[in-house]
Amino acid sequence: MEERMLRMERFISLGSLASGLHHEIKNPLTALSIHVQLLEERLRDPNPSEPVDELIGVLNTEVHRLNGVLESFRNFTNLQRLTIQDVSITDVLETTIRLVRPQASEQQVEISIHYPEKPLPKVPLDVEKFEQAVLNVIINALEAMPSGGMLLIRVILAGDTLQVEVSDTGLGIPHELQSSVFKPYFSTKSRGSGMGLALTEKIISQHGGNVTFQTGPKGTTFRLLLPLKQSV
Ligand SMILES: Nc1ncnc2c1ncn2[C@@H]1O[C@H](COP(=O)(O)OP(=O)(O)OP(=O)(O)O)[C@@H](O)[C@H]1O
Ligand SMILES: [Mg+2]
Repeated sequence: MEERMLRMERFISLGSLASGLHHEIKNPLTALSIHVQLLEERLRDPNPSEPVDELIGVLNTEVHRLNGVLESFRNFTNLQRLTIQDVSITDVLETTIRLVRPQASEQQVEISIHYPEKPLPKVPLDVEKFEQAVLNVIINALEAMPSGGMLLIRVILAGDTLQVEVSDTGLGIPHELQSSVFKPYFSTKSRGSGMGLALTEKIISQHGGNVTFQTGPKGTTFRLLLPLKQSV
């Protein structure tokens, strides 16, 4: 509970978002300024030793990166109201899973989906946002299994909550990183924005639910818990 509260605070806290953003912008800006300077020198040189294409390539990449940073920032801070509808969770999950099937089969990841025996009630959801939330977790699971494994998606009815568990058979999250995974901009991937789980947590919190995980050397399970009655 305490940890969840802390995470909520972090999600509200502008400070950590600002410092993450600062960090994300600083590196490309530094690279830009160094390469602009190099470009200037090379253009002044009457007999440049190397062509300028490579330098311009770096400028392009970094400008592109900055654009991406701002885009993900806008997505994250956009506190739009949810558009809640009573929907079939089965339909929503099937749609989401369909999106990742090609990637999964390319990586030799088998997908298995388990639903409870009992018929599932409709769930109050913002379909688009919820799909995004689940997709982020599923993509992380796939990325944790670059050379194959098992993606298990399980729907559980417990009391007046519905839980969606996404498990992978990857290597798990190292102990020292476990407290950071929900932080905006925290990523261990060279091409990750680090916004995936931050966004997932924000969306599920907006639905009145929460996100937890269990991890170990045999894999990781993320659990998205949703109230069956909309309370927010
Ligand atoms: N299933 C998982 N197995 C192992 N590590 C994970 C898993 N899910 C998340 N992580 C760790 O948590 C970090 C943060 O995840 P998050 O989804 O927020 O960002 P990302 O995946 O790095 O980038 P993005 O989602 O923007 O592409 C990851 O970089 C990774 O280190
Ligand atoms: Mg991710």
